[in-house]
Amino acid sequence: MSDFNIESIPSQKGRVAIVTGSNTGLGFETAMALAKKEMKVILACRNNNKAEKAKQLILKKVPGADIEVRIIDLSSLKSVREFAKNFLKDYDKLDLLINNAGIMIPPYSKTEDGFESQMGANYFSHFLLTGLLIDVITKTPGSRIVTLSSIAHKNGQINFEDLHWEKKYSAINAYGQSKLACLMFAYELKRRLEKAGSKTLSLAAHPGVSNTELARHIPKLVLYPLMPVFLLMSHTPDKGALPTLMAALSENAQSGDYYGPQGFREMKGKPGKAFSSDASRDQDVARRLWDISEELTGIKYL
Ligand SMILES: NC(=O)c1ccc[n+]([C@@H]2O[C@H](COP(=O)([O-])OP(=O)(O)OC[C@H]3O[C@@H](n4cnc5c(N)ncnc54)[C@H](OP(=O)(O)O)[C@@H]3O)[C@@H](O)[C@H]2O)c1
Repeated sequence: MSDFNIESIPSQKGRVAIVTGSNTGLGFETAMALAKKEMKVILACRNNNKAEKAKQLILKKVPGADIEVRIIDLSSLKSVREFAKNFLKDYDKLDLLINNAGIMIPPYSKTEDGFESQMGANYFSHFLLTGLLIDVITKTPGSRIVTLSSIAHKNGQINFEDLHWEKKYSAINAYGQSKLACLMFAYELKRRLEKAGSKTLSLAAHPGVSNTELARHIPKLVLYPLMPVFLLMSHTPDKGALPTLMAALSENAQSGDYYGPQGFREMKGKPGKAFSSDASRDQDVARRLWDISEELTGIKYL
């Protein structure tokens, strides 16, 4: 499983992908790689200017690429619903949904729906987006849903008593919770798809450590002195995107697989099977999280 080679993946012409948060970082590299494989790629982004610039960059490297920009703000359930509604007006298939967009350790704030911002953007909105698109995905043969987690899921726990960090906010623990939620969601989605008799695969991936804009909320005074060590431990976003691409495109991939880099502490290296904490495999917690997610986002599926 660790010999995934993107070069040997055949053309994906005729297939459609949505990549959330694809104007920069890992999402951008994922979109670029899919475009190289002739897939139609929808850049699902919150900022039109940034997304159009990303589209032009991809077109420069992949002339003739089939790229479309569509606006989604994952800190707003209304925006997610609007995105899905418009997509479903124009498309009757979806081969690949990549739940990639994310934020890390911002100052405390809430989304317009009252969710702690990381839980809202990283997890709840992707839960809703997947649910709104599930019918079109499951009727598309060979379809997959890939959700981004992180090494940080290992430090996370789902704190049902204070899901939105209203009592005491820890930015890093809130990030860990959101990424654990993403991983548990990918597993629970796999179980529910199989139970429903669907052949759609649900997988998860993490990039290890990659130098992207994700660190934007870390103060420069803290970040800059750490930069040399950080660069040594990390790999470039095109390499960081490989576990996601493995989940999206590998012929050997199976539903419920979780991929990440195979190097020291999974920080960088070739993609392969990743370590998943015991907490991430807790099916009781996963079911409870699913129920609460349905309640809070107002959608029931599978
Ligand atoms: N980089 C790493 O080392 C690392 C490690 C583990 C996991 N990850 C995961 O990988 C994924 C991608 O992160 P990255 O490293 O590529 O970070 P990045 O460079 O900061 O890119 C994040 C993307 O998400 C978008 N986004 C953020 N909030 C959004 C919102 N409310 N609505 C729509 N889009 C939104 C950003 O859009 P704007 O540009 O408009 O802000 C951007 O396109 C995340 O899920 C992250 O948790 C990254």
